[in-house]
Amino acid sequence: MQNFQFLLPTRIVFGNEVINQIGEEAKNFGKRALIVTDKGVLKTGYVERITQCLAEVQIEAEVFANVDPNPRDKSVDQGSKKAQQFKADLLIGVGGGSAIDTAKAIGVIMQEGGKINDYEGLDRVNKPITPLIAVPTTAGTGTEVTFWSVITDTKRKFKMSIGSPLMAAKVALVDPTLTLTLPKDITAYTGIDALVHSIEGYTATLSQPISDSLALTAIELISNNIRKVYANGKNLSARYEMMLASMLAGIAFGNSDVAAVHCMGEAMGGLYDTPHGVSMAVCLPYCIEYNLISNPEKFAKIAQALGENTVGLSTLAAAKKCIVAIRDLLGDLNIPSARTLGLQKQDLKKLAEAAAANVAVESNPRMLDQQDFLSMFQRAYDND
Ligand SMILES: [Fe+2]
Repeated sequence: MQNFQFLLPTRIVFGNEVINQIGEEAKNFGKRALIVTDKGVLKTGYVERITQCLAEVQIEAEVFANVDPNPRDKSVDQGSKKAQQFKADLLIGVGGGSAIDTAKAIGVIMQEGGKINDYEGLDRVNKPITPLIAVPTTAGTGTEVTFWSVITDTKRKFKMSIGSPLMAAKVALVDPTLTLTLPKDITAYTGIDALVHSIEGYTATLSQPISDSLALTAIELISNNIRKVYANGKNLSARYEMMLASMLAGIAFGNSDVAAVHCMGEAMGGLYDTPHGVSMAVCLPYCIEYNLISNPEKFAKIAQALGENTVGLSTLAAAKKCIVAIRDLLGDLNIPSARTLGLQKQDLKKLAEAAAANVAVESNPRMLDQQDFLSMFQRAYDND
């Protein structure tokens, strides 16, 4: 029995081809839209489609595409200047987490001024951001429905988390067809990120009944579909379910939290600029092994949601099946080792320090400190 809260200020419009409704959605909020995206998305033609839909309802649009894979504070500065010069009254974030997180951060600066680094942490933002429509093009981050933005502080080489319900998008326009052209490695990495959100959202100390049910559903959906989308990116029904899972996982961890995998993966992303999803993937098995004795009942349910047969097993033995399922999945998706990704022995201490400084440490279901992170990084380095 627990007391809990649940918040979802973002209206969700979900389905194949809902991108065509963006003009109708946008006209409720503004007349001059800054589209925040990245160079990869620019090549897909989605931005032209959006601009056209906006023109049909007399909304002028300007594009800011200078967003990096691990979005940086400098991009937020540049984007905010561009938004101010253009006199934007509406932001549209189109892309993976990097573009949407940058759009959120630009929205903060447009309303409050200063630098995004001034708002690091939870609830440092005082005013609602400029109205934002979030259009995800990957099934992974769930940021279209969260209150968080993760931006790299370039001086510290550290991924800052900036969070407030005032940063939520007004509308999440979630169209699974936008993921049909994603390359298979990005499909795998982003899908694992969604899996990590659901596992961490389900087991974090702040988990609660509503986020639990969303997270478990997301784990099942991912388990049933991630191999299919990796094998054939054109499988629309599997893409649909992955997009749904990513969004449900976003709502879950947005109300609960992420935990040790994100602490470790973000430390790696901050230091090496490795893509978010694959950084999570290489840390995931070690964190599950570490965490599972904290709540064997929940980890047993995760193992079942991942398709493991746990009939006749004790709860702890069933929980340990999670590790088997995860390692099997990472193998099927050809996830590289941490060392292939650039993990270096001389950096392990620095990484453990950065992981221990992450805001999500407190949410990990098993207490842990810098030394525990160091042991896990060492294991990831040894690939054992
Ligand atoms: Fe993530």
